[in-house]
Amino acid sequence: MAFPQNRILSGIQPTGNLHLGNYLGAIKNWVAMQNDYECLFCIVDLHAITVWPDLGDIAQSSREVAAGMIASGIDVNQSTVFIQSHVPAHAQLAWVFNCVARLGWLNRMTQFKDKAGKNKEKASSGLMVYPNLMAADILTYKASHVPTGEDQKQHLELARDIAQKFNVDTGKDVFPLPEPVIQGPGTRVMSLRDGQRKMSKSDISDMTRINMTDSSDVIADKIRRAKTDPDALPGSKDDLAGRPEANNLINIYAALSDRSVEDVIMEFSGQGFGALKPKLAELAVSVLGPIASRMSELLADPAELDRLLARGAEKATSLAEPVLAEAYEAIGFSPRA
Ligand code: TRP
Repeated sequence: MAFPQNRILSGIQPTGNLHLGNYLGAIKNWVAMQNDYECLFCIVDLHAITVWPDLGDIAQSSREVAAGMIASGIDVNQSTVFIQSHVPAHAQLAWVFNCVARLGWLNRMTQFKDKAGKNKEKASSGLMVYPNLMAADILTYKASHVPTGEDQKQHLELARDIAQKFNVDTGKDVFPLPEPVIQGPGTRVMSLRDGQRKMSKSDISDMTRINMTDSSDVIADKIRRAKTDPDALPGSKDDLAGRPEANNLINIYAALSDRSVEDVIMEFSGQGFGALKPKLAELAVSVLGPIASRMSELLADPAELDRLLARGAEKATSLAEPVLAEAYEAIGFSPRA
């Protein structure tokens, strides 16, 4: 059977506070891909519980992520937006992949090592098999492409290894080998207070990040107070090396304005941060302001959001179920009469 050639699946965690890093690193790119691909965007609540018991209000966080995506321009009539736990095939196929992936493969995952920290014995077994569930997310739709950040590349390679081993071991060509689509200049948005750390929802200082729900005043204030260095802005990309804060602000400017980094450098070359910051603030407010107000409108009607997500789950289920059935059949499970 031919595999889909143009089908995207990507996932995003429903862990509170969407910020500029989520927008530029993921959502904005997804919006742009909608016309060229058949898109499925999954809010991965099953992944969120791998760091039990740091649960928070998962249902509300999932709605917030959905609202952020829709407010940014994901069209739910064109793309499929849904919550992972609403489509049982993800967890069912993940179980199969728990039996396909080798422990040795999982032991090499750098994200597990980072997240488990020093106390590996105390990490949940779900954290260890997290990449198997991610492989299930992708392969239960036979996705051809997966847009993701650099940090998920290793997991995607694992998904390809799983697909290949499943196909070889069953002798059936059930799964394609999905290709990564690594994203543009906004992929790594760094903290506004430390250009060497990723912008993160879990940073204790709110000044380090721009939240997608921040008011215009707050956005402008955070940019005004962003860390800089004493030098004028450089004339070439090479001269940004060793200047993480300058590099970050220029990258953000380029990503928000859909311009190349070179182009932005040319505009500000030789000028101080005093020239860049007000323009960046204005740009950020003009892009994020309308998104924030659309988000709060959407969140004011949770029942409607839940209906949209239920429709997404229905569409996703109709694609996922036959693939799960095909996988079960390839394994040789007793057919359900
Ligand atoms: N692990 C991804 C992250 O933390 C989220 C994710 C889950 C995902 N399932 C996915 C990304 C499938 C791409 C495809 O960012």
